[in-house]
Amino acid sequence: MKESECADTQTQQQETMPLLTPYKMGRFNLSHRLVMPPLTRQRSWNNIPQPHAALYYSQRATKGGLIITEATVISEAARGYKDTPGIWSKEQVEAWKSIVDAVHAKGGIIFCQIWHVGRVSTYEYQPNGQAPISSTSNVLKPQLQTNADEPVKFSPPRRLSTDEIPQIVNEFRLAARNAMEAGK
Ligand SMILES: Cc1cc2nc3c(=O)[nH]c(=O)nc-3n(C[C@H](O)[C@H](O)[C@H](O)COP(=O)(O)O)c2cc1C
Repeated sequence: MKESECADTQTQQQETMPLLTPYKMGRFNLSHRLVMPPLTRQRSWNNIPQPHAALYYSQRATKGGLIITEATVISEAARGYKDTPGIWSKEQVEAWKSIVDAVHAKGGIIFCQIWHVGRVSTYEYQPNGQAPISSTSNVLKPQLQTNADEPVKFSPPRRLSTDEIPQIVNEFRLAARNAMEAGK
């Protein structure tokens, strides 16, 4: 095959590669189908997103490309890993704004993954050292987590009563609104 024919074939392959074709996702027009998945980083000191995250996410942003943020906790009780970002307070929302702006400046689209760890937690992460909340009072077996040398011994959870569930749903609702506010 001549060099020019080879180049033509390569161009055709690129043009038809489905990953690189546009996709309409609701009101978002993605220019390709490569999505950055949520990747926990544990670099948001005291659950406040840091300025260095603007650099991290903007380096991974592409025009019309979708990024899903690292899992972001919806409340104090939702925490189970050190230094994961939150999105329940005004300070956190303000901190997210510069990160989102940096992604938007490159034409990227960013969604926040909102998160409650349930019983994957210990007393030390919980307000007033209370029991982590869950759908069950059964305790998880210890697990080795990233950023830890020893398996984590989870604290026995408290099973939520049915009438407490709307409060958690509301925390998710507020977190979603906060994420939209950060992206305005
Ligand atoms: C370091 C690390 C952190 C991760 N953090 C999250 C997270 O915050 N939320 C989530 O839903 N998945 C998380 N994942 C799962 C990745 O999103 C998943 O590995 C990725 O989508 C690729 O899928 P695969 O592992 O099934 O190939 C994490 C994975 C790794 C390796």
